[in-house]
Formats: sequence, C-alpha cells, structure tokens
Amino acid sequence: LLSHNFSTTTPNNSIQNITVYGSGLMGAGIVQVAAQNGFKVTMVDIEQKFIDRGKEIINASLKRIAKKQHKDDENAQKSFIESTLSNIKTNTDSLKGAENSDLIIEAIVENLQTKQNLFKKLDESANSNAIFASNTSSLPISEISKVTKRQDKFAGLHFFNPVPQMKLVEIIKINQTSEDTYQSLIEVTKKMQKTPVTCKDTPGFIVNRLLVPYLLEAMRLAERGDASIEDVDTAMKLGAGMPMGPFELSDFVGLDTLKSIVDGWRKDGKIDAGLVASVKKLDNLVKDGKLGRKSGEGFYTY
Ligand code: NAI
Repeated sequence: LLSHNFSTTTPNNSIQNITVYGSGLMGAGIVQVAAQNGFKVTMVDIEQKFIDRGKEIINASLKRIAKKQHKDDENAQKSFIESTLSNIKTNTDSLKGAENSDLIIEAIVENLQTKQNLFKKLDESANSNAIFASNTSSLPISEISKVTKRQDKFAGLHFFNPVPQMKLVEIIKINQTSEDTYQSLIEVTKKMQKTPVTCKDTPGFIVNRLLVPYLLEAMRLAERGDASIEDVDTAMKLGAGMPMGPFELSDFVGLDTLKSIVDGWRKDGKIDAGLVASVKKLDNLVKDGKLGRKSGEGFYTY
C-alpha cells in the first residue's frame, strides 16, 4: 500500500541500466567507465567476435588502471576488476540488449542511415522512458533523432578517445531535448566521473570545431614549406603548452577520421570554406593507407 509513496523517492529519470551499442574503440570505453562507476551495462554488437574484441579492450584497460590504483595490493586489483566486470553483460541481439534500459548510448559506425535504422527499431521496442543518446562526432543529432518519436528524450553524448582517460563529455542538446533529459545526462556524466559541457547541435560541437581547423592549418603551413612538421609540433608543445603537436595529434586521431570529418563539413557548407579547404598531403596519405598510428605510418612512422 505504501509502495506508491515510497516510489517517489527515486526520481523518474534516475538512470541505473545503460545499454551501449557498438563494442569498438569508443563503445568499449564507455561500457567500461559506466561499469566502473556502478551502472549495470549491456554491451551490444552485431557479432560475437566484435563483442570479444570489446571485452579484450576493457580487460586490458582495467588491468592497467587496477595496477595504478592499487600498486602492491593484488587482492584489491582483483576485486576492482571483478566488481567492474560483474556490472557488464553482453548481447548480440540488437533489440533484446536494450530491454529494461534507462539510457541507450549509440557508438556504432559513423553512418547516418545505419544509426537511424537502429534508433527507429529501438524507438518501438525500448522502454518508453528510456533516453537515447548518440556518440557521433560529425553527424547532426537532429538528423539521427528525427526517425524516433522521442526527440524530447534524445541528445548527443560525445565522449573522447581514450574514454577511460579523457575527462570531457559534450552533451549536445537539440531543440526538442527536454530539461529532464538534459539533467539526467548531466547526472550520469558526473557519476561516470566525467566533466560535462553543453553545446547546441552545431558542426563539430565545441572540441572538434576548434581542433580540426587548427590541425588543417598546421598541415597547410608545413605544405607551403613555412616550417617543418617536427618544428611545428615542437613549437606548439613548448610555446602553446599543448601535450601533443598537431601532427602527432592528427596521427593519433587517425587521418581517415580527420579527412572524413572535413569532407563532411565541406559538403555540408555550414562552416567557412577556407577553414575546411582540402589539404593535398592529408588526402594523399589517406589514399596510400597511411592513416596514422593505427596503420603504423602517417605524418610520422611508428
Ligand atoms: P569502431 O569501428 O571502433 O566501432 C564500431 C562498432 O560498432 C563495431 O564493433 C561494429 O561492429 C559495431 N556496429 C556496427 N553496426 C552496429 C549495429 N547496428 N549494432 C551494434 N553494433 C554495431 O568505431 P569507434 O571509433 O568506436 O566509433 C564509434 C562512434 O563513436 C562513431 O559514431 C564515431 O564518430 C564516434 N566517435 C569516435 C571517436 C574516435 O576517436 N574514434 C571519438 C568520439 C566519437
């Protein structure tokens, strides 16, 4: 009889169960950080082999963190890892994975149609109160969300690579995002021990909007022969306090990723054309499969 009254002590929008779609670089990181901070998380991908790869990413990262946090205490290391892993379930059935979920975070391939297909199906099958969020770096949240009937419960939740280390999360509000949804996402982000910032649904949000034109300008400067790649990196590290120079950072981000962001912006036409003008060296490196760190070569050789 009293349960009705008691239930009001938990806010309607309090998030406990999270489902993450995509167990790649970003998805695995988001799953790990959520699980480490007490959320029950389901990691969904289309095939078991991708789930297994995601689990490997998580295991390796947890081991590193455990060693750092509990230097000489093997028992504490073990119990940190076990308690985190006990919060993680996995699923290859795309709709079942979101049953009972309060928050669905999408971190699948960067393709508008693929993301829309997923959210359209989820809109019909998921809990009607569940909040939907996309981790997209370059697609408009409003475009992804418009296939659903819950744009008030839709936002961008943009994490940074590597997720366990990077403290920032950009929360992207579309016009329809409700205050309740927004507050829930702020709360979740803080519980994950991240710092949220808020941005409108504008190309590149905050970080990439400023960072990508800067990286391109560094490439143009070197392409003109005004300074060497090495000197530009040294200059920005020692003269501007950047932890990595622009070429090191470009190689770290992935040159294909950078190129696809810039190409998308240029096609979009919303950003000043000069800022997103193509850079021959970048285009050529990508054409040759030199994608940066991940392929062993980019502006530098690894
Ligand atoms: P990734 O390629 O490492 O992982 C994507 C995963 O999604 C793959 O395992 C793939 O099998 C899976 N997938 C594809 N379709 C699926 C579906 N329908 N259901 C479930 N899983 C599916 O990609 P990454 O780098 O993790 O990026 C994911 C998203 O995060 C993209 O939207 C990207 O723009 C965004 N992002 C990427 C960052 C980065 O530095 N790589 C930074 C911030 C955001």
